Amino acid sequence: MNKIPVETFDTPELAVAKLAAETAELIRSNDAAGKPTVLGLATGATPIRYYQELIRLHKEEGLSFQNVITFNLDEYAGLPREHKESYWFFMHHNLFDHIDIKPENINLPSGTVSDAEIPAHCEEYEQAIIDAGGIDQQILGIGRTGHIGFNEPGSPKDSLTRAITLDEITREDAAPAFDGIDNVPTAAITMGCGTILAAKRIVLMAWGEGKASIVQKAVQGPVNDIVSASYLQEHDNAVFYIDQPASTEL
Ligand code: F6R
Repeated sequence: MNKIPVETFDTPELAVAKLAAETAELIRSNDAAGKPTVLGLATGATPIRYYQELIRLHKEEGLSFQNVITFNLDEYAGLPREHKESYWFFMHHNLFDHIDIKPENINLPSGTVSDAEIPAHCEEYEQAIIDAGGIDQQILGIGRTGHIGFNEPGSPKDSLTRAITLDEITREDAAPAFDGIDNVPTAAITMGCGTILAAKRIVLMAWGEGKASIVQKAVQGPVNDIVSASYLQEHDNAVFYIDQPASTEL
């Protein structure tokens, strides 16, 4: 039995069209009410098509991001912004450089704070989300370890933004982009499960048969820290948008 609502689409393109339309509607209704819209964003292969659709809506349908504030889930420890695998670089290349968002409204954890500065940096990140009014819409992918953000197995449900050691499976998955596992960072700063669960709406996307097994565990399995995404079962406004191949074990 599915313990999280799941919408299965014939293609990822159909799923992201629906999700981007929801985002546009949220932005436009907040604009009309004179309120900013706070988006929680993810990196990785999964949301790229969604970002392409947001860019299209901006360029072809006049969707403005002037009143949008963004918070990304995570950043690799040790990578400066200009590193081609940093999530700062990813987000600018895949979204921010193509829309009218104000640079001061873009927030990502820093990959280059010193170890001693990390706790204060993480507290400031949490406070910035609260000061912005909380996240209206959080988008997520899911890792093979069941992670959301980089909340690897063992992450408590109430965890907040913090440094985390990356699971070896996660590092293996990142190895091709880094030209070998030895170049993959061993740690990251990630929003916690509690940070994510505080979002008003959460949409997790998953494409392809490689995600079918972990989607099944997240949606139908027990809620525990072995699969962080299973915590989404306890959120009252979380949904999975997946394609047919990712749905085959449900
Ligand atoms: C990315 C993130 C991760 C990814 C997950 C899936 O900011 O937080 O949880 O969403 O590792 O990655 P892809 O989409 O590359 O399969």
